[in-house]
Amino acid sequence: MEGRKAGNGEEMTDDGSGGKNSLTIKDNRTGREYEVDILDGDVIRAMDLRQIKVDEGDFGMMTYDPGFKNTASTQSTVTYIDGGKGILRYRGYPIEQLAERSTFLEVAYLLLNGELPSQSELDDFVHEITVHTYVHENIRTVMNGFRYDAHAMSMLISSVAALGTFYPEARNVRDADNRRLQIHRLVAKMPTLAGFTYRHHQGLPPAYPENELSFTANFLNMLFRIGGGDYKPNPVVERALDILFILHADHEQNCSTTAMRVIGSSEADPYSALAGAMGALFGPLHGGANEAVLRMLQRIGTMDNIPSFMEGVKRKEERLMGFGHRVYKAYDPRASIIKRAADDVFEVTGRNQLLDIALELERIALDDDFFVSRNLYPNVDFYSGLIYEALGFPVEMFPVLFAIPRTVGWLAQWDELLKDGEQSIARPRQIFNGAPARDFVLVENR
Ligand code: CMC
Repeated sequence: MEGRKAGNGEEMTDDGSGGKNSLTIKDNRTGREYEVDILDGDVIRAMDLRQIKVDEGDFGMMTYDPGFKNTASTQSTVTYIDGGKGILRYRGYPIEQLAERSTFLEVAYLLLNGELPSQSELDDFVHEITVHTYVHENIRTVMNGFRYDAHAMSMLISSVAALGTFYPEARNVRDADNRRLQIHRLVAKMPTLAGFTYRHHQGLPPAYPENELSFTANFLNMLFRIGGGDYKPNPVVERALDILFILHADHEQNCSTTAMRVIGSSEADPYSALAGAMGALFGPLHGGANEAVLRMLQRIGTMDNIPSFMEGVKRKEERLMGFGHRVYKAYDPRASIIKRAADDVFEVTGRNQLLDIALELERIALDDDFFVSRNLYPNVDFYSGLIYEALGFPVEMFPVLFAIPRTVGWLAQWDELLKDGEQSIARPRQIFNGAPARDFVLVENR
């Protein structure tokens, strides 16, 4: 056996002691052993594997992890999830407590700053967000270019990217004060842009922000106000939407947050990075799932169609949308909270007929070995669409309703990335399986 090397490449002495916080790896091709440090949480540094080589000319050992199923891309202090136990915490605070006792803007402050605000800090933050709600009128010209049936999320993605053209200084991402200003702008303007997309879709004139309303009430105002006079949403509806915003505000290193961090790692401006993250969110396996759930429930239509639908899922012809999660292998805690919030909303709006189909799908799935053995439980998207529909949102708005609060999480994670000295441009490796070198042949000779 040749000498053992530590993670830093130094030779290790074999003292035979047990209980060390390290991992010994034996390369059976060479018989060499290597010792690499174990960091907190059963993690080793991928770069520590690079020393494992058959000979000096080798590139060194890599890991292969499509979909990043077992790769930590960052250290983070924002959100904690224990997927086995169904635990979700923002900055240490359980999601259940935040949903019950906090407001969306207070949670936004928490996610962005790491601590809950004092009353005066909260007042300042609410004021700061409120005064940034207006957008340049030319953004409406951009939106007017879209066809009447353009998807609301596609319009929103494009208008966030377009908004960046009004703030060229946003490219100075290494300036912390500048970053903070852009964060406040984006959090504040997202509901305004979302409201404009809805009104465009409906063929209605835009409704502008009303700064004396709460963040959530103002959003409802920009969607549903008709005519002049004071707009006041139903407080139950306003609170339910605020809770939904809290539940969607962050979810650690999911697909769209990873997109945000990957784009941010090239030091692109936050508007471009956010537009990219929103593109990732739009997919039906991620934030587009709430829209897909509602379309699925509408397609099932009646209770007697449920058995044949479920058989199709089990034959893997399609997925039960709103079920399953990469991290949660228990009931998604957000789904439980949403299910309770739905009762309050339905008392005001009347019961959504599709709820019975959803409840029956859940009942069957939780009792069926196909779903149980794969740990498939309802996720955040299973019930949220039912509330959104009851509140009068068209399905095209569902991913938009996810993107508004998630903007806070994306920006908190982006800010953390730029403050993290260990981060560098995201640039994974590949295993090349393509053609070996070959000579080009002119088209007439092929
Ligand atoms: N319906 C039926 N079968 C499923 C489902 C589902 N919804 N989800 C996973 N499976 C099966 C899958 O076929 C596989 O079976 P097998 O082991 O026999 O091949 C097994 O469960 C594991 O699935 P996976 O695709 O390897 O799991 P993943 O961690 O890669 O995917 C997921 C996670 C969320 C993409 C997936 O569960 C899914 O497609 N769910 C439906 C879409 C959805 O609701 N997405 C919202 C996620 S939560 C909010 C968010 O992220 O924005």
